[in-house]
Amino acid sequence: MEIDPATLGPRERHLLLTALVVPRPIGWISSLDVEGRANLAPYSFFNLVASTPPTLIVSVGQRAGQPKDTLANARATGELVVNVVSEALAEAMNASSVESDPEHDEFVFAGVAKAPSVVVRPPRVAAAHAHLEARLTQIVPLVDDDGQARNHVLFARIVHVHVADALFTPPHRVDVAALAPLARLAGTEYGRLRELFSLPRPTPPAAQQVDD
Ligand SMILES: Cc1cc2nc3c(=O)[nH]c(=O)nc-3n(C[C@H](O)[C@H](O)[C@H](O)COP(=O)(O)O)c2cc1C
Repeated sequence: MEIDPATLGPRERHLLLTALVVPRPIGWISSLDVEGRANLAPYSFFNLVASTPPTLIVSVGQRAGQPKDTLANARATGELVVNVVSEALAEAMNASSVESDPEHDEFVFAGVAKAPSVVVRPPRVAAAHAHLEARLTQIVPLVDDDGQARNHVLFARIVHVHVADALFTPPHRVDVAALAPLARLAGTEYGRLRELFSLPRPTPPAAQQVDD
């Protein structure tokens, strides 16, 4: 099958592309609005894009032509927390995706407790095994053929990392199997990590090796 994405409607294009770029990590993002009200929502157009400077991205769409709360809050306050979604938190994560007004606290709707963050103001999801506290560095609008920005990509610098002691192996490793991150697929589908294996990086051919 050969497909020109421009010939597809938005829904079909979304289902096709999100089924092919898999699995996607889920950034379960907490933020605060200017009045200090908490917000929590999952985003799978999300990733770590650099460790120097430590940078993550999240692409936020629109709701009825208006910015979603996560974008509005990031613009207004410049801070967010990424809560890592383990398998056990799947239902709560999904519940927090409910489309709701800013005064509605998705922590309450999803039934998850808050815990204070260390260097930013938005709270963490207490039950998450790991958190990335971050500060907004830039926002890039993704403009469609009609000149309208349909999504905005937030770039944020990670300013603090929390990993549950039980999963942390000094000096800087994490027990990924115990972290059990949920993977986003397409539609209503998700996946789990199945089997981990190790693959050492290749060594250069002898002629290319540089003596030091
Ligand atoms: C697993 C999952 C991943 C999602 N990923 C995105 C995404 O990458 N971008 C987006 O705009 N919405 C995404 N959504 C939908 C938002 O979570 C939903 O619109 C939510 O209500 C936004 O909340 P907010 O307005 O509080 O930011 C996703 C939903 C789920 C369940």
